[in-house]
Amino acid sequence: MLTLHWPQQLSWDVSISGSKNAALPLIASSLYFKESVLENVPRIGDVFTFLKIIESLGVKVNFSGNTLTMDTENMSIDTLDLCLIKKIRVGIFLIPILLERFGKVEIPFPGGCNIGKRPIDEHIHWFEKMGYTNESYDDIVKFTGKYSEESISLSAGFAVTATENMIIANVFRPGKTTIELAAIEPHVLNLIHFFQQTGANITVEYNHVITIIWVQEKPMKSHGSVIHDYIESGTFVIFWALASNPYIDIHHARIEDLRAFLFKCSEAWVRWEDLWDDTLRVHNSRETLKSIAIQTNIFPGFPTDLQSPFAILLTQAEGISRIHEVLFEGRLNWLVEIEKMKWHVAIMNPHEALVFWKTPLRWSTVSSWDLRAGVAMIIAGMISDGDTFITNVEYIERGYEDIIGKLGKLWASIKTI
Ligand code: EPU
Repeated sequence: MLTLHWPQQLSWDVSISGSKNAALPLIASSLYFKESVLENVPRIGDVFTFLKIIESLGVKVNFSGNTLTMDTENMSIDTLDLCLIKKIRVGIFLIPILLERFGKVEIPFPGGCNIGKRPIDEHIHWFEKMGYTNESYDDIVKFTGKYSEESISLSAGFAVTATENMIIANVFRPGKTTIELAAIEPHVLNLIHFFQQTGANITVEYNHVITIIWVQEKPMKSHGSVIHDYIESGTFVIFWALASNPYIDIHHARIEDLRAFLFKCSEAWVRWEDLWDDTLRVHNSRETLKSIAIQTNIFPGFPTDLQSPFAILLTQAEGISRIHEVLFEGRLNWLVEIEKMKWHVAIMNPHEALVFWKTPLRWSTVSSWDLRAGVAMIIAGMISDGDTFITNVEYIERGYEDIIGKLGKLWASIKTI
């Protein structure tokens, strides 16, 4: 559990860590190679869980600081920890790797979660289209066989993990692969860049078409780096817009990836400056915030992963704000939990909510609903009128590296009990 109360600033800078959603597909992709090195890997719950799964495959893992090295020489499918795979959605990235290395895969379906059902039907469909035999049953995904070497064309419907999985599955497959309506989130591009560095021929076009042309067998070694996390960066923008101290500088902010979010910040009268060297200066803007409407979207639109923290910003804005969550049918549910803090919100339907007027938030004990809602509750606690208690902190620790330490330097009054 976390306790929070009024802030006291000890530092003026924060440095953004590696991105969760970029790290996980890169870690999975590294299993193609005998030896791999990944830099800037965040030390977060989801990475540790994924590494435990990978170790259960007999892979030798060394995670020192933010550098991860893996040796897959003794990899074996027989010891795979199936219970852990159920806990983490990105277990589906193991499907193409295990199929390619062992000619078979049999793992539990990843479940739904607090933000929505999150089916993987398209992933399944595409593995069939690649030529594998689908023998799935009950809640088990089972494929066997070998890929076809013909050229194939797939439509990814802008789904992020699905686009990533199809890149991973096809990168070393003889034949041409065209992924239409591909997601082009920064972490997808990070994955493409990783494979390009190993010699793969992958191109991305402005109209969301990714083309993979087979050029070579996979090499023995890989070396990559995880991009910094634009979602963490946007979260710190909101923290500071609501703080009572003058400003902070956010380093490795990935300002270019945050354009839609920063436009909305400006519209809400959050004051920020683009300093040189990917540093973002954010000024305390709490007194002047104005209501706005936001709608989440695929990249480069407003990221769904910043919707929950942004909702807290809107509680301190004059007027009525509107939130339209397009992607996930459950991602507004956490608003019910935070009603305990006496803010004024109306959930219109699973995808839309209104936030009314500038409201002083009342301290309370609240539970982290999911990763992003959990961090939103920390922000709410920071601006509430007393000590706030947050439970289920492990949700937050799944995706934010050393969040308590970083906030502790900016605001001294946060601790885990
Ligand atoms: N979809 C299907 N069938 C499929 C695949 C997707 O119907 O086979 C639909 C589902 O409704 C699904 C939606 O498309 O919910 C979006 O799917 P997508 O693949 O884009 O998203 P995701 O894999 O569920 C990833 C991130 C999310 C992030 C979204 C949107 C990872 C591990 N997860 O989720 O991150 O919100 O993309 O950008 O990369 C988070 O970090 O808190 C988080 C939830």
